[in-house]
Amino acid sequence: MSTTFQLDTSTSRATPTPQPRKRLTVPSIRGRKRDGVTKEPLVMLTAYTARQAQLLDAHCDMLLVGDSLGQVIYGLPSTLAVTLDMMIAHGAAVVRGSYHSLVVVDMPFGSYEASKEQAFESASRIMAETGCAAVKLEGGQAMAETIEFLNSRGIPVMAHVGLTPQAVNVLGGYAARGRSQEEHAKIISDGEAVQTAGAFAVVIEGVIEPIAIALTKAIEIPTIGIGASAQCDGQVLVTEDMLGMFERVPRFVKRYEDIATLIEKTVETYASEVRDRSFPTEAQTYQPKK
Ligand code: KIV
Repeated sequence: MSTTFQLDTSTSRATPTPQPRKRLTVPSIRGRKRDGVTKEPLVMLTAYTARQAQLLDAHCDMLLVGDSLGQVIYGLPSTLAVTLDMMIAHGAAVVRGSYHSLVVVDMPFGSYEASKEQAFESASRIMAETGCAAVKLEGGQAMAETIEFLNSRGIPVMAHVGLTPQAVNVLGGYAARGRSQEEHAKIISDGEAVQTAGAFAVVIEGVIEPIAIALTKAIEIPTIGIGASAQCDGQVLVTEDMLGMFERVPRFVKRYEDIATLIEKTVETYASEVRDRSFPTEAQTYQPKK
C-alpha cells in the first residue's frame, strides 16, 4: 500500500505548505561538488515527522529520515531494533511534509546486509512506499557490490563510513574512529570504494578530522560530515540534538537551543493552570449561541 499521500493542510494541524520550490534531485546534490570543490556546503538535518519536515524543509538541501529515530523517537538503546516498517512510516510522513529538500531514508539494520537482492527488495519498498529519492546504508568496501546493484537498478544510494552505529557491537562503542594507521587507511579506502560503486554522496561519521579532510579531497562525490570536519562538503546533525532536546550532548553536537527547558517550563505552566482551574477560560470553551 502506498503511503505517499499529499499533506492535507485543511484536515491536519500543519500550516499550508509555503511557496513551492522545485524539489532538489540526486544529480543536483551530486553536482554541487565540481572539480573537488563545493562552493556552497550541503545542509542536511534529520527529520522523522511531517511537521518537523515542514519546519526544516526551506532551510535544508536534504532531510535524512535516520534510523536514529529508534533512540530519538522510540527510546531504544541503539538503532538495531529499528524495522523497515518504522522507516517507511516516518519516511512517508517526511515526504508529505516537504516540498524542496531531497529526502533520504536510512535502511535499517538487517534489511540489506544479507545480499544485494535483499537490499533491492527493502530499498524498493522504501522508495515506493515513501516517495523518497534515495536510501542511505552503512558500510564501505563490504557494501560496494550492493551499492552498485541498487544504483544500476534505479535506487540512488548515500553511503555512510567511519563510525557506523549499526556496527556498535563489532566496534565496541561509539568512540571516534581512525586513530590507528590501519583504521585511517580503511576509512579512506571505504570512501573510495563507495564512490566507485556509484554512491552519490557519503556520510563520514565520528572520525578524527584529518581523515575527513583527506577523504573529502580524495573523492569527487560530496562528503557529509557528522563529528568529522567543517571542510566536508556538507554537514548533518540529529535535529533534536542541535535543538537541545536531550541532556547528553555528544562532543560533535552544537546545541543551538534549549528546547527541553522551554517544553518543561511550558508544561509546568499548563499543569498549574489546570490545577488552579484557570485553564480553560471562556476563550477556549464553547458557549450556547445567543
Ligand atoms: O541515523 C542517523 O540519524 C544518521 C545520521 C546521524 C548521519 O545516520
